[in-house]
Amino acid sequence: MTDGWDEYASSWDDRPDSKLYAEKAFASLVAQTDLRGVGWTSKRVLDFGCGTGLLAQKVAPYVGELIAVDTSEKMIAVLQSKEIPNVVAVHGNILGADHKSDDTDLGAGFDLIYASSVCGFLPDYEGAVNEFARLLRSGGHFIQWDWQASDGEEFGLSESKIRRVLESAKFRSIRVEQVFSLEADEQTMPVLIGAGIV
Ligand SMILES: C[S@@+](CC[C@H](N)C(=O)[O-])C[C@H]1O[C@@H](n2cnc3c(N)ncnc32)[C@H](O)[C@@H]1O
Repeated sequence: MTDGWDEYASSWDDRPDSKLYAEKAFASLVAQTDLRGVGWTSKRVLDFGCGTGLLAQKVAPYVGELIAVDTSEKMIAVLQSKEIPNVVAVHGNILGADHKSDDTDLGAGFDLIYASSVCGFLPDYEGAVNEFARLLRSGGHFIQWDWQASDGEEFGLSESKIRRVLESAKFRSIRVEQVFSLEADEQTMPVLIGAGIV
């Protein structure tokens, strides 16, 4: 089956906004987790909705193992072609009822799960966050970045919705705020970070 994101895969890494988004997300990830500290070099990380791995390739040098998962076969193929030594690229859907019977059962015990510009596109954002909380080890971090929803628009996620969902999934040390913005189509588009510890 063709995935709607497949058509973006071959050009994704050439898009200035994709690259800038990954750079800014990485900077905020480092600030949020002290990722460059020695403690991270043995850690297990999940990049959910990794795309072509623009963010994964920045994170990988600082962690032990990075599992990168995406439902777009073509996005995953681009990431696999980068041959990053400690990145395992997995095509499949780890959400939903039937994934545990196939090879996308990744096991639990992640120290960090992050999702860069993914959660706002999910049909069941709340269900996904509950699953991330289950997959994290105690003390593990979840971090998401999403376009901030404007009033009355369906696109993106609002600060209040992210906070409500993280609280409901029992995350602690919750942080939800605008963390950067990008210029697109003569508009300033704010991006929210949502972060918590399980
Ligand atoms: C806007 S792109 C972001 C890609 C990448 N995180 C980045 O920042 O460059 C959204 C990605 O989420 C993926 N995606 C959407 N739903 C997904 C799901 N249920 N499981 C895994 N990946 C998903 C899409 O295939 C697409 O690659």
